[in-house]
Amino acid sequence: MASRSAKRIVCLPGDGIGPEVMAVAQRVMHVLAPELELEDHPFGAAAIRASGDPLPAETLEACRAADAVLKAPIGDPEFDAADVRPEQGMLRLRKELDVYANLRPASRGPVDLLIVRELVGGLYFGARGVRDDGTVFDTCEYHPSQVERIARRAFELARSRRGRLTSVDKANVLDTSRLWRRVVHEVAGDYPDVEVADMLVDNAAMQLASAPEQFDVIVTENMFGDILSDLAAAMTGGLGLAPSASLGDRGPGVFEPVHGSAPDIAGHGIANPAAMLRSVALMLDLALDRPDEAAALERAVEAALRDAPTPDLGGNATTAQFADVVLAALVA
Ligand code: IPM
Ligand code: MG
Repeated sequence: MASRSAKRIVCLPGDGIGPEVMAVAQRVMHVLAPELELEDHPFGAAAIRASGDPLPAETLEACRAADAVLKAPIGDPEFDAADVRPEQGMLRLRKELDVYANLRPASRGPVDLLIVRELVGGLYFGARGVRDDGTVFDTCEYHPSQVERIARRAFELARSRRGRLTSVDKANVLDTSRLWRRVVHEVAGDYPDVEVADMLVDNAAMQLASAPEQFDVIVTENMFGDILSDLAAAMTGGLGLAPSASLGDRGPGVFEPVHGSAPDIAGHGIANPAAMLRSVALMLDLALDRPDEAAALERAVEAALRDAPTPDLGGNATTAQFADVVLAALVA
């Protein structure tokens, strides 16, 4: 990869509104960073239809070799009850690339917080099965090393921001949470400049809903982070605006909106591409070392949110009109 100067981005257009918001992202990248090499690969429900596998081997290999992966939402109700589901491809991609640190920023007005969600452990990846008596089980599992690396990442991020870290767990009930808490406090010894506090997850939900401005960085396990990040998004303008970056220690990161594939509005041309574009901005900043272009894109998205809001925001702009405002702001 070192011999190649042009950066290669693997784009996964996904399902539902995925291809619509990906098309806007690609239009924008052609203007903002025309030398980027963009490649589309099948993933999710579209890939199941084509090959029976939500993450075909060819797509995984392309992702591994890329400088970054830009992913649109996946998921299709057609497969909700099927044995092979689009979401399984997403979990496998995260695991295969070992992108354990999922960064989900949320800001509006006085609120400026970052959720750091552990992404490749916990309930999503623990033992599961069916017992002889018909009981179905999913297991929450964490190894201390998994907690340590996400804690370190969160402390580093807190240090680069306002120096406050809230570690969210359920240590009054769960052993994995007691492990989590112990490891976070061990790691804290290396970050005396960061102020760390523990918070139980039920209280964290209430605090996020009632006083979200108190938070700087929140670090938490996979499922708590899934739930709290939707809440944080709702508190700061809605899911249509929320981007995310999933990073490992080496290899490509995955950049994707927090929202789903919204099959109910797919094909209507009214999807809000803001979260997708903000995910592109995170990619420009964190994977491609282009903070100036990232900031310009952030500002252009702000302009479009103001001047061409889509129906989910109470406006009536189409996806294409939103994109036109973004592009006009970028070339201005
Ligand atoms: C998210 C999504 C996924 C998750 C689903 C689609 C598997 O909700 O990225 O937040 O739970 O991680
Ligand atoms: Mg989620």
